[in-house]
Amino acid sequence: MFEGFVSGGIIKRGLQKGLIEIKVHNLRDFTTDKHRQVDDRPYGGEEGMVFKPEPIFAAVESVRQAEGTPVYLLTPQGRTFDARLAEEMARHPQIVLICGRYEGVDERVAEHLATEEISIGDYVLTGGELAAMVVVDAVSRFVPRVVGKEESVRHDSFFEGLLDYPQYTRPREFRGMKVPQILFSGDHQKIEAWRRKKALDKTLERRPDLLAGRTSPEEKRIPDQKHNERNKR
Ligand code: 6GU
Repeated sequence: MFEGFVSGGIIKRGLQKGLIEIKVHNLRDFTTDKHRQVDDRPYGGEEGMVFKPEPIFAAVESVRQAEGTPVYLLTPQGRTFDARLAEEMARHPQIVLICGRYEGVDERVAEHLATEEISIGDYVLTGGELAAMVVVDAVSRFVPRVVGKEESVRHDSFFEGLLDYPQYTRPREFRGMKVPQILFSGDHQKIEAWRRKKALDKTLERRPDLLAGRTSPEEKRIPDQKHNERNKR
């Protein structure tokens, strides 16, 4: 599953430059029984299979390079992954991600091995692998020099807790749809202010939850009416 992920785009470039390293491990390699069994039936009955604790503990103990390396168990029950957590993860020299499957993972992994449980959103995936790739991708973008000037992290959605401002390129007019005049003004301060307003407006309209708790005077002024509503909470 990880082959496509590591063989293209910014991740591939980051790997080639040695800025990031991605190691994928097979839990079966950490079993000790003849059948290399990684799962078993749940105690208490019910359908499905549950990951056994021993191969997971063995795998993590084998790949973890330092006591301080955080270990994240990927499960829909976890704390929701976001840009802030991605940035925090990127500060560690190593992170370990455990991908669950089936009905789940023996709870002793969550309680005694994982630093934290992480979910990538409110839906259920067939396995943690896609979630792990989502996490690795988002974290890699915060590793210095992985993202070039071209794709600058600084102006991205969520960087300052806001959605992105709209972007335009040539042609100036396409099927009667025009690029906003201000972008041709050459006045960089004005353009910056316009972009900031657009980002704020879009965030207020689509994701007012992202603005909760923000208090800069500029942000207080712009969304007058809705801001007052927010203040009541
Ligand atoms: Cl981390 N794993 C699975 N299996 N489903 C998910 C998830 C993780 N995050 C959201 N849904």
